[in-house]
Amino acid sequence: MKILNRNSLLFVVISLFASPITMASKPHTDVRALIQIDSQAKEHVLLEMRQLLEATQLILDSALKNDMKAVSQYASNVGLKAMKATPTNVASQLPKEFKIMGRSVHEAMDSIARDANDLGDREHTLTQLNETLQSCVACHNVFKFQ
Ligand code: HEC
Repeated sequence: MKILNRNSLLFVVISLFASPITMASKPHTDVRALIQIDSQAKEHVLLEMRQLLEATQLILDSALKNDMKAVSQYASNVGLKAMKATPTNVASQLPKEFKIMGRSVHEAMDSIARDANDLGDREHTLTQLNETLQSCVACHNVFKFQ
């Protein structure tokens, strides 16, 4: 009995401290900061977001098929060059923190593209994609547009 209790306690402690992301994403605790931008800018950023999601799916699909050339192409489409194509009147409305987090995701996509090309190692790609998705989740937990 004593061992069981200790294990249960350990479980509770681990659950409490292991995952701040899970805790922050409880549906009824919306603590996200509101970014106020005009509707055109919002439309532009949300389009970029949907492109990121689509690229993520295509990277995963290609990795599962072991088509590392395709992984590289899809990842590079949403790399830094995509971010640099953001019009200045959109970028100027976004907070600095948002741009830093956004840049890190685009840079991560460039790393996925480069490594898929140079190493052709599917496991490595999947690890990188998983880490990149954690940045998507992290940003979604702190910002909103509406
Ligand atoms: C720099 C912050 C940031 C990063 C990084 C980020 N997002 Fe977003 N994303 C947002 C915000 C803010 C919204 C709007 C959420 C809201 O208003 O409720 C959004 C919305 C979206 C939407 C909804 C689009 C729509 O049309 O409504 C998708 C899909 C999405 N993101 C996918 C992704 C994916 C996939 C990644 C990572 C590869 C990612 N995002 C990375 C901030 C970010």
